[in-house]
Parts: sequence; structure tokens; C-alpha cells
Amino acid sequence: MSMNKSAIETMKNRQSIRAYDTKKLSESDYQRIIEYITAEENLIGPFGNKGRIELVQVTNNISEKGIKLGTYGFIKNPQVYLVGLCENKKYSLLEFAYTFHKLVIYLTELRLGTCWMGGTFSRNSFERELQLAEGEFIPCITPSGYPQQKQRVFDKALRYVVKADNKKPWDQLFYDGSFAKPLEKANAAQLEIPIEMVRLGPSASNKQPWRLVLSEDRQKCHFYIEHTPNYSKSLGYDMQILDIGIAMAQFELACAELDIKGRWKIADPGLELPNSLTEYMVSWTQD
Ligand SMILES: Cc1cc2nc3c(=O)[nH]c(=O)nc-3n(C[C@H](O)[C@H](O)[C@H](O)COP(=O)(O)O)c2cc1C
Repeated sequence: MSMNKSAIETMKNRQSIRAYDTKKLSESDYQRIIEYITAEENLIGPFGNKGRIELVQVTNNISEKGIKLGTYGFIKNPQVYLVGLCENKKYSLLEFAYTFHKLVIYLTELRLGTCWMGGTFSRNSFERELQLAEGEFIPCITPSGYPQQKQRVFDKALRYVVKADNKKPWDQLFYDGSFAKPLEKANAAQLEIPIEMVRLGPSASNKQPWRLVLSEDRQKCHFYIEHTPNYSKSLGYDMQILDIGIAMAQFELACAELDIKGRWKIADPGLELPNSLTEYMVSWTQD
């Protein structure tokens, strides 16, 4: 998938793009995306949950079916939308976000812009556009197209409001052996870059709810979520679970590039939690 490009460099350079060029997608980019989203292996998470990703072309925000796909003015000149569909269950959302973020990194490698969206779009209009199967739900979408060269004032203001460039430092996110001891970069050994990629990933409202505990023997990395109280409650799903799937994808893509072998497991080590908002999700175990 990485077309000889460095996924780590791509992850370092990615940022959410909300203003696009009016140019349509090239035929080859369009075909590459179709190929990607129709390949079954790209849609299955590490525990076997499978979602669906649909491509919708738009002209002035109107689909070919004539449906207006709304983003409340957040997105300018999108050329396509990639729409995610999965079950509204904890691990379905987790695994779906993992697969969807790998697509986001692939699009970034193609020099296409993306912006993960869970809230500021009309879910209703996208549901009408796509035929939802029983039990399917739209957890997220991303607009895409070639980024507009000049960043809009609106984009800059929005980045400021959500503090998009304000990524939390290591000592607020990563722990060593237990939650009692922050993890120092120098002690992360070969997992330093995969862990750093988690830190640089996108998250809903840039809340960065991921918390990692690296085991003392450095063989396991446990992923937790620190929920933001009442976040996304009104939307009827736990949007922040998606952030943890994103963290898994960022971590795994870095490991793959660095030839660090391991696998995902759900095996709660039963560590003492720092507060009642923190919940265990998944662990990465070195082979
Ligand atoms: C699950 C998720 C949902 C998001 N929902 C929205 C959204 O509804 N509208 C929006 O403008 N940005 C949305 N974002 C983008 C975040 O605001 C953005 O990722 C964050 O501010 C960090 O900026 P960066 O992506 O440029 O690193 C979402 C991101 C994630 C991961």
C-alpha cells in the first residue's frame, strides 16, 4: 500500500484539510481509491469486524443522485466523500476506525486531502444517499480532493478553536509499567516512533483521549481511552472510540515500516486506573 513512500513521514505531515481545489480527481487516483475500498482485506479489523466504505462524487455538494450532502459550511469544494459504515458497537467502531484511518493515510500518500468527520455533517443526507443495511450506521466520513493551496482564514480559525496544533506532550499520554509513572521517550526503546505516531494522530475535537502503558519488559503496549465526559452523547454513539482505532493504525503502520513484529489482543492486564473515565481497550504484543 505504501508505494515506497514512508508512512511515518506521511503521518508526520498529515493534517486535516477543509478547503479543496475545484479540480476533479484524476482518473488514476479515482481508480486507486475504488480498488482500495473494494479490497476485502482493507475493510477487516484485527479481530474480524468488517465495515464498508463508499465513495460518493459531488459537484457543488450535490451527489449524482441529486442529494445535497451537507457539512454546515465546514468543507469547501469537496470533490468526493468517503463514507464509513459499520455497526454501532464498541469493537466494531474501534476496528472500523483502524481500517478507515489506513485509508486516510493512503489518500494522504496520494497527495489527496482528508478530514475525519464525526459530527459536523448531516448524517441524514448521507443516509439517504447510501442504502443502509440492517444494523449499519455512519460513524464517520471524510471529504477528499486536492488541497487548496492557500489555507482559508476559516480553516486557520477552526484549527485555532479546536487547538488542532496543540498536541499533548508525552507525559500526559504515555506511561511506564503503570499509570503511576510517565514514560520517558528515551525509555521507550524501539517503540519510541510508533508511540510518537499515536501522539500525532487526529482525534475528535483534538481531545487526544488515548493513554498507553508500556509494559516493564517492553513487550506489550496497552491502549486505554480516557473518555471526555458526555462527549458525542447527543449523536447516539461513542465517537471517541474512533480515536483509539486511529491510534492503533498509526502505531501499527510505524511498526510495519520499522519491521517491528507484533499483534493485537484484547487482554486487560488489570492495572490500577487513574480515574473512572479511563477504560481499557486493546493491547499490542510483540511477537
Ligand atoms: C473521530 C473524529 C471526528 C472528527 N470530527 C470532525 C468534525 O465533525 N468536523 C471537523 O471539522 N473536524 C472533525 N475532526 C477533525 C479534528 O478536529 C482534527 O483531527 C483535530 O483538530 C487535529 O487536527 P489534525 O487532524 O490537523 O491533526 C474529527 C477528527 C476525528 C478523529
